[in-house]
This record gives sequence, structure tokens and C-alpha cells, in this order.
Amino acid sequence: MPEPSGYPELDALLPRLAAVATLDDPALEAEEIAILGRKQGALTAALRGVANLTPEQRPAFGAAVNQLKEAFTLAFAARRAALAAGQAARTSRDDLSMPGRATWMGGRHPVTQVVDEILAIFAGLGFAIAVGPEAETEETNFLALNFPDDHPAMDMHDTLYLETGVTDPARGERVLLRTHTSPVQIRTMRAGPPPYRVVIPGTVYRKDPFDASHAPGFAQIEGLAVDEGIGFVDLKGTLAHFARRFLGPDTKVRFRPSFFPFTEPSAEMDVSCRFCRGAGCGPCKGTGWMEILGCGMVHPSVLEGCGVDPERYTGWAFGMGPARIAMQRFEVPDIRLLYEGDMRFLSQFGRGAR
Ligand code: DAH
Repeated sequence: MPEPSGYPELDALLPRLAAVATLDDPALEAEEIAILGRKQGALTAALRGVANLTPEQRPAFGAAVNQLKEAFTLAFAARRAALAAGQAARTSRDDLSMPGRATWMGGRHPVTQVVDEILAIFAGLGFAIAVGPEAETEETNFLALNFPDDHPAMDMHDTLYLETGVTDPARGERVLLRTHTSPVQIRTMRAGPPPYRVVIPGTVYRKDPFDASHAPGFAQIEGLAVDEGIGFVDLKGTLAHFARRFLGPDTKVRFRPSFFPFTEPSAEMDVSCRFCRGAGCGPCKGTGWMEILGCGMVHPSVLEGCGVDPERYTGWAFGMGPARIAMQRFEVPDIRLLYEGDMRFLSQFGRGAR
């Protein structure tokens, strides 16, 4: 870097000389033309000022201009060499060593995580996955599942009916948003002969209010096993095994009598509370138990209605709500958090979340 020459028009260029080392193309090329250009260059213009000087003053001024020109020429060449050698990062204002801002790749929703895990446990027991439509007929959603017309059990299953043009109510042809995944039991059995071992994930719809423990649309997982010689002991053994795999080896289960039109006998399965291990706490409302599913032996009329001989085949089924299970597992106090799609909440569950 040359010393200031004392000529203001030349010394004014010194900051630009210092800045050459920070320039990248195309700014570097533009600056080279702006300083050294034969016609418009700043140094060429300065040289023209020589005309205003006395003959005695001219040599010293000419020498100062040449010195500055040489300094610029060297600086441009050095900067080009540095860029060519890939050393830009050292002198550039952009710090290329700084880690990039990775974009969030997304994560699985907590309910999806629970569903996947449950399906994997049943897949390990030889169950296949089956799915069915969310717009169901009244026949498959209710009648084939042995709901008698106007049975009070249907009150809990009030839902939206769709206008489709197919409306013979007597034949159960009206179309509705399914209230449970149980109609996929019917579809599975009607699609081919036994044996059946399927788990059925899906979304279902009810008139339920949207409050801390209810949602009008929610996830369910259904299970169905039908074969020769299947008894209640298979139901208990399989579901107890599932509970221990899913919640831990020392999980206890208990079955309470219940009612569903499509099973006989019917039961609710409770698991020992994983927070207090049975002592009683907030999440289990002091009982030491948490209800996780409804189940039972498939009603003979349901089998018969699907063309399966109930004298030869028996089976069991279950239905559970993975959102409730996710709430227990992740200690989520309000079901709405799972369905509102607020990323501040959901991103806590995504693996690798940021
Ligand atoms: N479908 C029932 C409901 O949504 C749940 C259920 C209970 C399913 C017992 C079953 C079962 O398969 O055996 O309330």
C-alpha cells in the first residue's frame, strides 16, 4: 500500500485500493475498468490534470500517478489470483465457513407415531393392514354390524349424512361419514373367505363436541381375527401381549363387561396406569387404571351376514383410539392440541425437529 502522495485527487483513491481485496466478480472487473480504464478510468482522468501544472511540478505528479497505477494493477492481479485459488472465503465479507441454515424436514405427528407403533406390534403377530372408505353406507356402518334400527347405541354415533342420490333408507343405502372403523370388518369378511387377521387404521366422525377430551373427527384402530377354534382366551392373550409390548413388560390388564351390538360377549380393556403403576394419580383419575379399548367375540349374526359360517368359525375384534393413547403416552392434557396443527406444539414430537 503506497504512502499518501499529498495530491488529494490521488489520495482519495486509497480506500478503493484497500477495498480491491474484498471484491468478487463482477464487482472486481467493474472496479478495474473504473480505475484503470483508458478512457474513463479515475487514474487516466487524474493524469489529465497534469496540464494544469507547471513543467517543474509535472514529473513528481507523474511519478505519483504511476506509483498508484502500479499498486492498483498489483492489487487487481493479486485479487484475481486469490479468487482463482479458491481462497475467496479468507477476504470476502461472506463467511463461507458458517454452517448453513438447514430446513426442517418435518416429523411424524404424535398420533401417527402411536398408530405406526401399534400396527407394527400387530404386524409382528401376523396381522395384515386393511383400510376402508370414510364415506360409508348405513348398511356397513350400522346394519351389518347388528345395530338394530333406532337402537340407543346409535345415539353415540350421530354423524353427517351425505347427499349422493342413493337413498333407499330401508336397505341402508344412505351414505354417511363413518362413525367407527368397524365397517371395515364387514368389508374384509365380504371380500374373501376366512381366516382373517387384520388391523384397520382410519379416521372416524361423530357429532362429539371439540373439547379437552373429544374431537368430532379422530383416529381409530380396529382389529379382527377370525378362524376355526378361536376363543376368548385368544382375545385376552393377544391384547395382553400387545399392552405389554406397547406400554412395558410389567403392564397389567383387566377386562370389564360392556356392550357393543357386534360382539358377544363384549368388554372394555383397562391397563395399569403407567404413571403411578396402579397407586392412583391425576392422569388415571385416582383409579390406577386407564381404559384403552373396546373388544369382544364377533357376534354370530355379523359373521353370518358376511357369509362366514358361525358354526365353523369364531373370532374376536377390538377398537381403540390412538389419540387418547398418545395423550397418555406424551402427557398431553387436551386432545385439541393434537388436532389443531399448531407447529409450536407439534414440532416437539418430530424427530430432528428444530
Ligand atoms: N366400534 C367401537 C366404537 O367405535 C369400538 C369397538 C368396540 C370396536 C368393540 C370393536 C369392538 O371391534 O370389538 O365405539
